[in-house]
Amino acid sequence: MSDFQLRLLKLVNDNNGVISNTLEVPELAEIDSNILHSNLTSLWAKEMINFSKIEIDKWVLTEEAESYVKAGASPEVQVVDEVLKALEGMTISELKTKLGPIGAVGQGKAFKNKWLGKKGDTLVANVDKLPEDVVLNELKTIQSTGSLQDKKELTELKKRKLISLIKIIGYKIEKGPKFALEIVSLETDITSEMVASGSWKNAEFKPYNFQSEGVYPPSGALHPLNKVREEFRQIFFSMGFTEMPTNQYVESGFWNFDTLFVPQQHPARDLQDTFYLKDPARALKPEDEEYWNNVKQVHEEGKYGSIGYRYPWKEDESLRMVLRTHTTSVSAAMLYELAKDPKPTRLFSIDRVFRNEAVDATHLAEFHQVEGVLAGYDITLGDLIGFMEDFFGKMGFDELRFKAAYNPYTEPSLEIFAYHKGLKKWVEIGNSGMFRPEMLEAMGLPKNLRVLGWGLSLERPTMIKYGVSNIRELLGHKVSLDFIESNPAARLDEHLE
Ligand code: PHE
Repeated sequence: MSDFQLRLLKLVNDNNGVISNTLEVPELAEIDSNILHSNLTSLWAKEMINFSKIEIDKWVLTEEAESYVKAGASPEVQVVDEVLKALEGMTISELKTKLGPIGAVGQGKAFKNKWLGKKGDTLVANVDKLPEDVVLNELKTIQSTGSLQDKKELTELKKRKLISLIKIIGYKIEKGPKFALEIVSLETDITSEMVASGSWKNAEFKPYNFQSEGVYPPSGALHPLNKVREEFRQIFFSMGFTEMPTNQYVESGFWNFDTLFVPQQHPARDLQDTFYLKDPARALKPEDEEYWNNVKQVHEEGKYGSIGYRYPWKEDESLRMVLRTHTTSVSAAMLYELAKDPKPTRLFSIDRVFRNEAVDATHLAEFHQVEGVLAGYDITLGDLIGFMEDFFGKMGFDELRFKAAYNPYTEPSLEIFAYHKGLKKWVEIGNSGMFRPEMLEAMGLPKNLRVLGWGLSLERPTMIKYGVSNIRELLGHKVSLDFIESNPAARLDEHLE
């Protein structure tokens, strides 16, 4: 390394103190620009030289073009040569057998140049001797000089994929204030030995390099979903919500579906939509016999003023173990607890759910739900709408639209749409509704303590916020760690402006 640096210093000196372009110095022209750069930087740090970068566009021949230069003729000239040589004339297919792909390219160009014509199937030459090979000459010029005067021809050769543009880097080097022909190694640190021996007095120190970029400190990073999750948690906390315990992916059909008045024949309960456990396949029956019977009755024959679904409700179906398909199973369990001491309550959860879905750019078999539940005396659909406006307003959506929808456990149910200023369109952002009396009264909640709930996916706003269009770039083994480390914390409101 330092031998090379000494060589550089000597070259500068021999050139009267200035090398105006290293590319013009044969000894330096071939050296990798990164290597050159690091050596120049090291000399510059010692103030021995100053240097600047020169970037030059250079046209180079592609492999194909190199082969023509080697063959000594462009495809069009090779073709004419063959046709002239064939005394009996030649068909296109004979030409192609002879020259391969070159024949195909060459005859097209030769026709265009009017060097060739056709008589029936036979190719005939319109010239009696080989035409001047302009293309070959141009390629040779480019090979030796890196460019061509005639810009039209340059574009033409580029179109034919015979040449491509590269950037080459050279440097201008000049003597610096401490220029010398030998390199004094500079001290970087003062050591105890230097102090003890007094050698520090004569030592030369390397100046600080304030341009140096420094090493990025290695650290962990939160996944974008965690950042957005945290933003949601703060919104919920600011509105007086308490987080529900959701650390349980497996539920019984009872809590995931039956308590929510989802009939046992509902398509959501099909194998195609829900993952069922093989082992253990069945849950224990809940201890609260009265509640269990209430749920059975409200499905089978109706109760609490409802006529029910009127089908034979099967205990076995209800005890099947499932990977929870929504966090509403946890909300149901929490509302059941609330029934023991009913009072206005605000609860939320953000956690993983599972659905047996075909995986594609926007769907995975597992995702996260953000869910809120609010219990209040005599609250109405108006409260639901008002509350949704508050909640989504905090996310930065200040224009909402509602569309009547259907959930087995809520009535009425509303899908929520918001106008997205960034995407300039209405996007569906959530699902909501007032939980049904069939669900709440079976738990023992008083009639006038009404409960509204809503849910949305965590992935969707995260994808919008981070501009990710394929969910697999966000979650799973294809996620780039760089993406995770370099993205800023989520501020939903600012982003959505
Ligand atoms: N569980 C619903 C879903 O999966 C969301 C929801 C929760 C709707 C609570 C209404 C009430 O989409």
